[in-house]
Amino acid sequence: MVGNTNEPAKLDSVVYSYAMNLNGLEEENRFLKESIENLEKELEKFKHTPLIACEVRDMVDGKVLIRMPNGNEFLVDAAQNCTGLLPGDGVLAEQKNLTVVRRISSVKKFDVDKFVIIEKPSVGWDMIGGLQPQEQEIKEVIELPLTRPDLFKKVGIEPPKGILLYGPSGTGKTLLAKAVAASTHSTFIEIVGSELVQKFIGEGAKLVKEIFQLAREKAPSIIFIDEIDSIASTRIDVGTSGEREVQRTFMQLLAEIDGFRPLDNVKIIGCTNRKDILDPAIVRPGRLDRLIHVPLPNEQGRRDIFLIHTRNMNLGQVDVDKIVHQLEGASGAEVRSVCTEAGYFAIRDDRTRVREADFQSAIEKVHSGQDSNQDYRRMFG
Ligand SMILES: Nc1ncnc2c1ncn2[C@@H]1O[C@H](COP(=O)(O)OP(=O)(O)OP(=O)(O)O)[C@@H](O)[C@H]1O
Ligand SMILES: [Mg+2]
Repeated sequence: MVGNTNEPAKLDSVVYSYAMNLNGLEEENRFLKESIENLEKELEKFKHTPLIACEVRDMVDGKVLIRMPNGNEFLVDAAQNCTGLLPGDGVLAEQKNLTVVRRISSVKKFDVDKFVIIEKPSVGWDMIGGLQPQEQEIKEVIELPLTRPDLFKKVGIEPPKGILLYGPSGTGKTLLAKAVAASTHSTFIEIVGSELVQKFIGEGAKLVKEIFQLAREKAPSIIFIDEIDSIASTRIDVGTSGEREVQRTFMQLLAEIDGFRPLDNVKIIGCTNRKDILDPAIVRPGRLDRLIHVPLPNEQGRRDIFLIHTRNMNLGQVDVDKIVHQLEGASGAEVRSVCTEAGYFAIRDDRTRVREADFQSAIEKVHSGQDSNQDYRRMFG
């Protein structure tokens, strides 16, 4: 009887142990299936033929020109998910038909447009005072080859590739460059030498290359390199890595200048206040070999500049000769500054007409260094 009462409990425990066992087996089954899957995947890898690492040389009508490690080049297709390839990118290609299946490294191509100032200036020659000889030379060297290249072909001479404008600050160098860009309807691409080496550490040379590329695409164009002395200076000796970088940038600039043809519709205008420290390599024949001095204006020049900047001013009786005489030694930028200040004196006095006295106050103010023009302070202070 006793045994009978225990029977169901025993059965329960047997069922329970089978259930547990089943769980264990199911778990093991899952684990083994996973193992099989992994091994199959691994096996699959061994079956695959390796992909070839190669470099994108160019994009041609939706196809990719790749260069194999052995130097051979092929025009191939790219897989659908492989978009936006650029020359210089590293890619993997199938062995059979060399279809590009993946990008593995990309060249850092910066948007050169973002780093340089590109504009179509509207400065007219009539906005420049006292620089007639310089204007004349620029017209001959930059304007004529861009507007009448046929003339040079017929005569059989090659115009200079570029010019170098040098002289003190605020004398109208940038103005001259913009005026010739405007008169030739050229794209004006402005880069600043010091920025090229400070902002784009490690990229200066590449940027120079891309700027010239851009200039050719947007031709006719004028590449304006301000403060060119900061990349083309004899003071740079290649001790530190920073200096080596400047040197590389400079070398690239020389290579680019040498690389284009004189009638390529791209002209270079370099600018500097420090001709004395300039590396002679940049002004060697065939490079920026026309040197144009842009000096401080003489009395007549200051007069011209004064008249330009007062052209739109509402003037009362003013003694132009006297003012111009008092501005002895001032640059064009400083003459303009005096005109602006004089206008402010009138406004403060609730007038719209600018008088002689306003100019006198303006000159005094700039003399005493209360305006924002540092050059003026340096000069009179
Ligand atoms: N010869 C000039 N005729 C008329 N305006 C001038 C002349 N020179 C300078 N200016 C005035 O001064 C401003 C600054 O001149 P600009 O930028 O051309 O000088 P810069 O020689 O390039 O100086 P920096 O060497 O400092 O770059 C001009 O925008 C213009 O208003
Ligand atoms: Mg300038």
